[in-house]
Amino acid sequence: MDLSKLIIKNNMEGNSQKDQFAIDVLTGLCAKSKNLPAKYFYDDTGSEVFQKITKHEDYYLTTTEFKILNSIKNQLPEVIGEKEIDIIELGAGDGHKSQLIIDGFLNANCKVNFYPIDISEKAMVMLSQNMVSHPNLTVKGVVAEYFDGLRLVRNQSKNKQLVLFLGSNIGNFDRIQNQGFLRRLWMSLNASDSVLLGFDLKKDVSILTAAYNDSSGHTREFNLNILRRINAELGGNFNIDKFKHFGVYNPVLGAMESYVLSTQEQDVYVSELQRAFHFDAYEPIHLEYSFKFTHGDIEFLCQQTGFELIKQYSDKKEYFVDSLWKVVK
Ligand code: AVI
Repeated sequence: MDLSKLIIKNNMEGNSQKDQFAIDVLTGLCAKSKNLPAKYFYDDTGSEVFQKITKHEDYYLTTTEFKILNSIKNQLPEVIGEKEIDIIELGAGDGHKSQLIIDGFLNANCKVNFYPIDISEKAMVMLSQNMVSHPNLTVKGVVAEYFDGLRLVRNQSKNKQLVLFLGSNIGNFDRIQNQGFLRRLWMSLNASDSVLLGFDLKKDVSILTAAYNDSSGHTREFNLNILRRINAELGGNFNIDKFKHFGVYNPVLGAMESYVLSTQEQDVYVSELQRAFHFDAYEPIHLEYSFKFTHGDIEFLCQQTGFELIKQYSDKKEYFVDSLWKVVK
């Protein structure tokens, strides 16, 4: 991808991003149950570690979804039935999964306009290195928040749109947030546009816990990196050796939960916030939910948010589903 074709729409200047990070850290560490927003996992280091997680055999999600998409890529153009299509990916990823879907449309002689949307320009540059060029394919990266990016694309094009939200990213929202997100998505699209959503299915707890406690310690690094980030960007003095990663399945919520635990009583000072935070021994900081779904949960979500369920594509083990929905208006 030619970087001059990037549509840059950065909502926040460097300073206000840093201010927002400071506010979120202050709010999260002052809360009765300490927490930090999962979106702060993804600085350059966090994004690199996440790529390692996705390649690890314990983290079955990525390989399973890749196999599903590979097996359905040539069916999608017929189901969607357009000669030219905008494929919009929310969250750029490494492009391997979107490339499969694009290939399916190109194989069917469709013209494809691919718009990956991501807040990180670096993620967009990485993605550009992975996209294969083709005469029927145009790629325009959009550096923006998801819904700003969708508005930008819609102002540019009248084609039917297929929005990809893969990798069970939807699982990082709680059950209220995911409905809000999907309703907003519905509002951003036209009748008969489509969305393809990746959902991780409920399964044996041992498989889930292994995926979020991988044997090479990448998930541990990923979670602890958020403390390193506070040290680097906000002048924190977290001693990483005094914190421990803890990933556990909550069967009541139906979600994996990620924490870091303070392994002893301690105080941590953050100079940009001009204050210290006290930790009791084994006090947790909650970092992330990764919700898991049943087919019924997915049907319910679809119905509640204004879409029609076209098809659920799953793997043989029923570990993961890519669900194709159409906008009804
Ligand atoms: C990005 N998201 C779907 C991942 C997940 O499975 O919830 C993030 C992740 N956290 C730990 N491992 C992977």
